[in-house]
Amino acid sequence: MTDSKYAKATVLGLREWVPGKLLSFTVSRPEGFSFKAGQFARLGLPPAGQPDAEPSVWRAYSLVNGPDQSPLEFYSIVVPGGEFSPRLAELAPGDTLYLDRTLFGFLTIDRFEPGGTLWLIATGTGLSAYLSMLNDPATWAAFEHIILVHGVRTCPELAYGDEIAHWQSRAGTAPFKARFTYLPIPTQDTLPGTPQARVTPLIDNGQLETLAGVKLDPATHKIMLCGNPAMVTDARALLKDKGFAVGRRGVPGNLAVENYW
Ligand SMILES: Cc1cc2nc3c(=O)[nH]c(=O)nc-3n(C[C@H](O)[C@H](O)[C@H](O)COP(=O)(O)OP(=O)(O)OC[C@H]3O[C@@H](n4cnc5c(N)ncnc54)[C@H](O)[C@@H]3O)c2cc1C
Ligand SMILES: NC(=O)c1ccc[n+]([C@@H]2O[C@H](COP(=O)([O-])OP(=O)(O)OC[C@H]3O[C@@H](n4cnc5c(N)ncnc54)[C@H](OP(=O)(O)O)[C@@H]3O)[C@@H](O)[C@H]2O)c1
Repeated sequence: MTDSKYAKATVLGLREWVPGKLLSFTVSRPEGFSFKAGQFARLGLPPAGQPDAEPSVWRAYSLVNGPDQSPLEFYSIVVPGGEFSPRLAELAPGDTLYLDRTLFGFLTIDRFEPGGTLWLIATGTGLSAYLSMLNDPATWAAFEHIILVHGVRTCPELAYGDEIAHWQSRAGTAPFKARFTYLPIPTQDTLPGTPQARVTPLIDNGQLETLAGVKLDPATHKIMLCGNPAMVTDARALLKDKGFAVGRRGVPGNLAVENYW
């Protein structure tokens, strides 16, 4: 059943990255469902055990696919004991999910003046919003250099490696005009050439700049932060001292943030 506020979507496929913790799933794209890269949808499920009831539990999920791509894709953590996410892990192709028809969120590249370097800094599933941006040719056209930083606990949580490798191999050629740097950073695992550290001390001590091979420049660099709210708060404070601030009242800033909880 659908009404004007939400649409019914069918689960098409599932992909497990880390058993019991991280998965992606695709769903059919409802007619007229449009969004900007970086926005999030509200997904709904009926009460547990009542598959035919109206959706009653809703959660925010960033789109992974680009605005012009179908089907819709989402990347999700499974929080033990959570009301919503463990039920995503039980989905199978053909199952129903509900989608609020209204799209939300301001973590979009139109927050910034185009040009210069775009830093996309995520922890955990905060990667989702950036995948949508990287799946959108407009992002590659708007900036000269894109730096994707992904902080995770362990190496298997470095999801979407094939897609990222594809962008790495195509960067600098149409339609992926910008230069591209990928910095995967596990905190509880070793990865050759990468410090085992949280992204925040790496921002603070300049190591992130060394890894990216660029110096942070508030005049030409734009930074997005997405994921763990404690990371966002800490990184935002560190970046404030380096000249980065969220825009306001029509004045474009050089920082944009989104908390996942
Ligand atoms: C704007 C926005 C976009 C979001 N996009 C995504 C997304 O693309 N993918 C995704 O997996 N989640 C995303 N979330 C989180 C998502 O809405 C749910 O909170 C999450 O799936 C857990 O739902 P739950 O009911 O099982 O647990 P909840 O009761 O919602 O959360 C319980 C606890 O789990 C932890 N938690 C919640 N979400 C996460 C997370 N993503 N990573 C690590 N720990 C978490 C927090 O400690 C939280 O207090 C987003 C949230 C917001 C606000
Ligand atoms: N189902 C399972 O088996 C399982 C297993 C583990 C966790 N979980 C659930 O998964 C959730 C955690 O998911 P997650 O690991 O993707 O997210 P997360 O806890 O936010 O960790 C992701 C990355 O962010 C880092 N980080 C955390 N706080 C930070 C801060 N203040 N500043 C900078 N970096 C920070 C972490 O480093 P650190 O490693 O240093 O914290 C890690 O590298 C929890 O809700 C937990 O319940 C499930």
